[in-house]
Amino acid sequence: MAANGKQRIAVLTSGGDAPGMNAVIRAVVRTGVNNGYGVFGIKRGYDGLLSADIEEINSREVKDIIHRGGTILRTARCQGMMTEDGQRKAAEIAKVFGIGTLIVIGGDGTFKGGLALSKFGVNVIAIPATIDLDMACTEYTIGFDTAVNTGMDSINKLRDTSSSHERCSVVEVMGRDAGYLALWCGMAGGAEEVLIPESPETNTEAVIEQIIRNRSKGKKHNLVVVAEGFGGSIALSKEIERVLGIEARTTILGHLQRGGSPTALDRMHASFMGCIAVKAAIAGEKNKAVVFKGGKHVLIDLAEAIDCKKTYDPAMYETIKTLAV
Ligand code: F6P
Repeated sequence: MAANGKQRIAVLTSGGDAPGMNAVIRAVVRTGVNNGYGVFGIKRGYDGLLSADIEEINSREVKDIIHRGGTILRTARCQGMMTEDGQRKAAEIAKVFGIGTLIVIGGDGTFKGGLALSKFGVNVIAIPATIDLDMACTEYTIGFDTAVNTGMDSINKLRDTSSSHERCSVVEVMGRDAGYLALWCGMAGGAEEVLIPESPETNTEAVIEQIIRNRSKGKKHNLVVVAEGFGGSIALSKEIERVLGIEARTTILGHLQRGGSPTALDRMHASFMGCIAVKAAIAGEKNKAVVFKGGKHVLIDLAEAIDCKKTYDPAMYETIKTLAV
């Protein structure tokens, strides 16, 4: 209970930012304030908790952010939370500030930080937000749809020029450890080959064979999507040029895919999940994650959410190849 008598909820965004994080912050602040809670924003993720960079936010301060990419709270990948000492210190600061529930928004690392804090007595509710969709506990992570659409728009544009020049375009999309973004961008963009870290056995020779097959059927230009975590996108273009004697160019989308105004889907998930998290806190739930399963937003145990292992869907990979020509 805070000095002014209001119970306190705090919110932070951590790890890589994702479009829609601002929409979650808005939902958390407004649901909390409308239920008589004091809502506090922690700057730069767990770094800001460790340095007590914490300020109350009112409902008007989250105006005009639902459509903005990035996060008004800013974010960081916090080294301090990797140690038990850091976790203990962060939990003590949360207690000093009278934080009844801490809502953490981010990916796997953010969830792990939240679970560590819960072991030191902080009540945590976690919300999945990452453009990578690499969390097995949930069928949706906030930011994914916007990032896929950014990738698809870029591929559309590259297709125009690659078709005019009868070239091969190699497009590198984000995803250090996971290929969901690459698979979705590849399928939605009509790519003929997608290289992902989960399937490292696909090699340059296989891509070249696919291009030869497709060219022999009359295809004049080619589109290959490479996930960042697979690597070698520049070398791949050079090899295609060397072996096939056709022009090939690599475009690396990089952090472009992390920005931009969130799509309607991201805003919907963000608004629901933020609201559900605060209502759960008010109902006395603790150490939970809000996830999307079977078409519904549900609460699961935070420890269980972290334990799930995600695998990619080979059917998606096969479908892309079937539709390649
Ligand atoms: O947030 C996920 C992600 O965008 C990955 O797709 C990417 O590999 C990584 O973050 C990049 O991280 P950084 O912003 O630290 O370069």
